[in-house]
Amino acid sequence: MSQEKKVYIETLGCQMNKSDSERMLGMLSHFGYIETSEPKTADLLIINTCSIRQLSEDKAYSYVGVWSKWKETRPELKIAVSGCVAQQYRDKLLKRFQKVDLVMGPRSFYRLPSLLEKINNGERICDVEDAVNEKENNYPIKRISGYNAWIPISEGCNNFCTYCIVPYVRGRERSRSLEVIKKEVVDALKQGYKEITLLGQNVDSWGKDFDDETLRLGKLLRELNTLDYDFRIRFVTSYPTDITDDVIKAVQECDKVCEYFHIPMQSGNSEVLKAMNRRYTREQYGEIVKKIRNTFENVTITSDFIAGFPGETEEQFNDTLSAIDEFELDYSNTAAYSPREGTVAAKWVDKFLDEKTKKERLARLNEKNRQACLKSNQKALGKIYEVLVEDFEEKDEKIILKSKSRNNKYVHFEGEKELIGKFVNVKINKASTWHLAGEILS
Ligand code: SAH
Ligand code: SF4
Ligand code: F3S
Repeated sequence: MSQEKKVYIETLGCQMNKSDSERMLGMLSHFGYIETSEPKTADLLIINTCSIRQLSEDKAYSYVGVWSKWKETRPELKIAVSGCVAQQYRDKLLKRFQKVDLVMGPRSFYRLPSLLEKINNGERICDVEDAVNEKENNYPIKRISGYNAWIPISEGCNNFCTYCIVPYVRGRERSRSLEVIKKEVVDALKQGYKEITLLGQNVDSWGKDFDDETLRLGKLLRELNTLDYDFRIRFVTSYPTDITDDVIKAVQECDKVCEYFHIPMQSGNSEVLKAMNRRYTREQYGEIVKKIRNTFENVTITSDFIAGFPGETEEQFNDTLSAIDEFELDYSNTAAYSPREGTVAAKWVDKFLDEKTKKERLARLNEKNRQACLKSNQKALGKIYEVLVEDFEEKDEKIILKSKSRNNKYVHFEGEKELIGKFVNVKINKASTWHLAGEILS
């Protein structure tokens, strides 16, 4: 008889990684592992890694370093490295970190049960091959978040932006079938989830690898919208020029689909965009944003930007700052360019900017984003938003509920804890940089 074991999983990186962790935890619970929030008490430690930037990669190594130390006094402890760094460096990680027992990629973790058996028998394994047969095997999913269920609709990416490691570590784009997605959505709704976020590196490409040409994001949204539950639908991330009129129409038609688009622009300068291998110009990006803003009243449009791409001039960087203003982007994720081994731009060493310039541009970008965010939040003053209450905090003996509006704004207001998990209407009366505050309408 096998004894119950404890697993601790640390997740770095994007929502896709978080979703993978939920799947791993589900699988592990099926095989008798209990999740613990105390890494020191765990029998199995998993670091689910991200390689989008050097900083995220280094973070993974520092976890492995600490855990390897623990293993000196607890040799029975098992350490696994999963995710994008694992996929990138494969068995090199086993050589570099002698205490690591298992290296598995984002496409092989579905074989976790058999891999565990092997490492529990003392083997050290690297498995990064696609688990084609094991994939949709209906293991439970142990969702981490309270009311929002993240559901991958496609995996991988075909775009090969010159800075980005994702296509190398996540492979070519593969859409999950409508049936599988629908089943996962219904399961989550039956469990009480109130918000479904459809996930993909490029959600608007969903279905392009199917023979049936009618299977596109618009159709998926319409199908899910017919499910007879009280819930919301979101979808991220959109590639600017892949957002079709049909997707915009579907968002308009479907009452459950939120007025929120995450459309990373990456740079406000067309030449830099070209060097990044993004297939649009500043003007084309602007047209898409305009179309969306003209269609929806309270729409939120967020973006990602990279500061200090190889060869980026001061003027080109200023185009990024002005794009945030011109397109009234509500919020942006920002980062300084980080060369990733194996990508095209990483070879342009002679064009790399020095760290000081990149840091300084990132600081200006963040300041611009801060101003844009405040401006965007101020537009909400006096409006009534339908929010989903997600959490609470106690402040000066009051219960402050934390919620999210349809257009993805964080809204705080005073109320009863019983409202957590419910939809309520809130009148916005205060706008700060990162959140709104208001009062509940009875
Ligand atoms: N599929 C999404 C992005 C996924 S990666 C898209 O196409 O927009 C998330 C973000 O990380 C990117 O939008 C980009 O802004 C940032 N990023 C990716 N590679 C990077 C690198 N090498 N250096 C800095 N930021 C990077
Ligand atoms: Fe990376 Fe570009 Fe694919 Fe986004 S679209 S994941 S930035 S290669
Ligand atoms: Fe996500 Fe990082 Fe991998 S952003 S896809 S976990 S490289």
